[in-house]
Amino acid sequence: MSNSEINFAARANQSGIDPLFIERWSPRAFQKHEISDEVMHRMMDAARWSPSCFNAQPWRFYTSTKNTFDDFLALLVDANQAWAKDASVIGFLVGQKHFEHNGKPNSYYDFDSGAAWMAMTLQARMEGLYTHGLGGIKKGEASDYLQVDTDQAEVLMGFTIGKLADLNELSDEQRNNETPNDRLELSKIWSQV
Ligand SMILES: Cc1cc2nc3c(=O)[nH]c(=O)nc-3n(C[C@H](O)[C@H](O)[C@H](O)COP(=O)(O)O)c2cc1C
Repeated sequence: MSNSEINFAARANQSGIDPLFIERWSPRAFQKHEISDEVMHRMMDAARWSPSCFNAQPWRFYTSTKNTFDDFLALLVDANQAWAKDASVIGFLVGQKHFEHNGKPNSYYDFDSGAAWMAMTLQARMEGLYTHGLGGIKKGEASDYLQVDTDQAEVLMGFTIGKLADLNELSDEQRNNETPNDRLELSKIWSQV
């Protein structure tokens, strides 16, 4: 089985949307791959252009380098560490809780930060890479490591960025875990009222 034969059976394109959306999924099987500075820049720049309430741009991205990768890995829960070790980059998304222009709480900081993460993710796909979101992080330790003032900001999630492994090299069990999943029917999530 080659990577182009990943089982997308659960992900039929029912409406003619751009395949980018369907072919974005969250692998756990990564292969060691060095992401160039240019590609990292493009992914972060894609995030930068996201929309946000009052154009507050509350997202802050922290990504590992070769020197800090192991530190970042240790900030994930064990179950995530087990596979994230093969990713190229581990990152954390931090949201700024207050508007800079008036200091008032911004109740959209997590919503807007999530949008920026998705923009980065889609640019990653266009670069031939994949991201994998991580709620399973050691949030307190990550805040301390990144010196996040938790009155002002919140570590929202972690993520990996990497290149999909050659699925031929995986065990059957690993390969089965790398089957993209399904979605609710459109009628369940959309009502025209
Ligand atoms: C905020 C967030 C947190 C997640 N946390 C984890 C996690 O801790 N471990 C994991 O293996 N996957 C995690 N995922 C991946 C989701 O399980 C995955 O996105 C979802 O099942 C949909 O599958 P797909 O991304 O392959 O389409 C997370 C995704 C997001 C967006």
